[in-house]
Amino acid sequence: MDLNTIREKYIAHFKAQSHAVIPSASLVPENDPTTLFTGSGMQPLVPYLLGEVHPKGTRLVDSQKCFRSGDIEEVGDNRHTTFFEMLGNWSLGDYWKKEQLAWIYSFLTDELELDPQRLFVTVFAGDESLGIGKDVDSVEIWKSLFAEKNVSSETALMGSEEEGSKRGMKDGERIFFYNAEKNWWSRSGVPGNMPPGEPGGPDSEIFYQFDVEHNQAFGEHCHPNCDCGRYLEIGNSVFMQYLKNEDGTFKTLPKQNVDFGGGLERILMAVTNTPDIVAVSHAPIIAYLEQHSDKKYGDDEQTTKAFRIIADHMKAAVFLIAEGIYPSNTDQGYFVRRLIRRAVRYADMLGIQGGGCASVVKPIADMYGTVYPDIPAKRVEIENAVAHEDEKFRTTLARGLREFEKITGTTVTGKEAFLLFSTYGFPYEMTEELATERGMTVDVQEFKEEMKAHQDLSRAGSEQKFKSGLADTGEKTTMLHTCTHLLLAGLRKYLGEGVHQAGSNITPLRLRFDFTYPEKVPQDVLDKVEAYVNEVLTAHCAVETVILEKDEAKEKGVEGSFWEKYPDEVTVYSVVSDDGTVYSRELCGGPHVKNTGEIVGVFKIVKESSSSAGVRRIKAVLEP
Ligand code: ALA
Repeated sequence: MDLNTIREKYIAHFKAQSHAVIPSASLVPENDPTTLFTGSGMQPLVPYLLGEVHPKGTRLVDSQKCFRSGDIEEVGDNRHTTFFEMLGNWSLGDYWKKEQLAWIYSFLTDELELDPQRLFVTVFAGDESLGIGKDVDSVEIWKSLFAEKNVSSETALMGSEEEGSKRGMKDGERIFFYNAEKNWWSRSGVPGNMPPGEPGGPDSEIFYQFDVEHNQAFGEHCHPNCDCGRYLEIGNSVFMQYLKNEDGTFKTLPKQNVDFGGGLERILMAVTNTPDIVAVSHAPIIAYLEQHSDKKYGDDEQTTKAFRIIADHMKAAVFLIAEGIYPSNTDQGYFVRRLIRRAVRYADMLGIQGGGCASVVKPIADMYGTVYPDIPAKRVEIENAVAHEDEKFRTTLARGLREFEKITGTTVTGKEAFLLFSTYGFPYEMTEELATERGMTVDVQEFKEEMKAHQDLSRAGSEQKFKSGLADTGEKTTMLHTCTHLLLAGLRKYLGEGVHQAGSNITPLRLRFDFTYPEKVPQDVLDKVEAYVNEVLTAHCAVETVILEKDEAKEKGVEGSFWEKYPDEVTVYSVVSDDGTVYSRELCGGPHVKNTGEIVGVFKIVKESSSSAGVRRIKAVLEP
């Protein structure tokens, strides 16, 4: 069994219970400025958990791409990855505990044939201060499910993780009560940390037991929530039924929801009874790295760690770049930069031959092609972006190291760390690693202050951009917006279908358009593209809109980037001449001119330059 089989089986299992299948949302949340990445399956569904009506109904199932940036430093052990998929099913005020626990248990034990003896569950022990009691309903349901499989079902009160490791587990115990630290779920953790208006509730987790001896470094005795590696959480049914009030108390939500999340890769670990997430879910990447080095996964601890870091980081970087997030020094792009640069360093340590980290994109594209066709479709762009970042890193690395060696004393100041970051492209963590190697420390506080000053500046910049962008629906801007569509169509006509939009910014004076293309666009091509746009302007073509189902639009070959960010129904703008020639057809939210004849002036490309790795930028104007 592999990731694809488990994903399919899970979706089918819940489809059979009348769940509508929804696509994975993008890794960068929309309309949610509070977080940079989607880190759980429920995040994109928060409005519906709070009561908004979902167009697909009250039973949903999906596999959501997730990225947890906080885990970058943890990667290298046998169970942490930054990128993973979370299998999810939701009841939006529909079914409740009985159905949820029965369905998920039957998925694990019947569909995946996990040994019921190896499964253990936890439930909420209750919290008097919240006036929320023990989850005895779930206990009753679990008991009857375990009875059907002829496995024991004794309960035990654990409380906290510490108490659990003092007490340990006794034969026959399978259902464990823990406090809110372990058995309450919200985006912000325990009830006390939840801001007003945040939904959350008690949960019931399922753990798989590996044949791993308990390691006392993690506590005296083992128990399901022990971190020694013997038990692994493979699924969590959250009973989302509460909402935090302004005064810190809780009220029940108008509808009781279920939010189930299960780590796809972890479930594969259980199915293969292998306590190593990278070995089971990055196998083709490991195989590639082994073929291109004289190292073997498992040779020794350092080598294994290097394989794991490259495999995880490249997989995450590939998914992020496919969504248009290129390496940079700000926001999400910074994580892509860190991922690639870290992968490059470890690839050097392994002595990977033949194309470096960029060549790792292919095995990843092959692995995910059927489920995420975007990845193979954008493979060349992704490879270029990785290669470009790799190269950039190497040129600055040598210079940065020279700069680093100049630092004297035992402290790297925040200013020095920031200079290394902004001028030499050293991710902060790398400066820290280098400092540690040399017995030095870094003034992280001062670094953060420098960083914040830098971010405030760039944020001010982006607000400025927004103000002068499409928020301005003035006539000039609208004209240039329609020209932008024609420009993209022209670029695709002469440079090929690999060209897609990577960014756009329009003011009444000019358009600025970023698009994916690996190298400088030759002048003769720019001339042809310019002529193409002007031909459409003089032909007085109609700009038509239709609303299509997203899938239908895709099938019809409508051009668009970031499909996953659009709702199920999309607006398609087409520029069509009287004789029916379609000059451009693109997903968009408008506004546009009604006819290209309204556009005043001659279209002129004034500049073509590099924007970032694998992305070019064109500035163009309408000359009177
Ligand atoms: N939202 C729950 C989690 O992420 C299922 O664990």
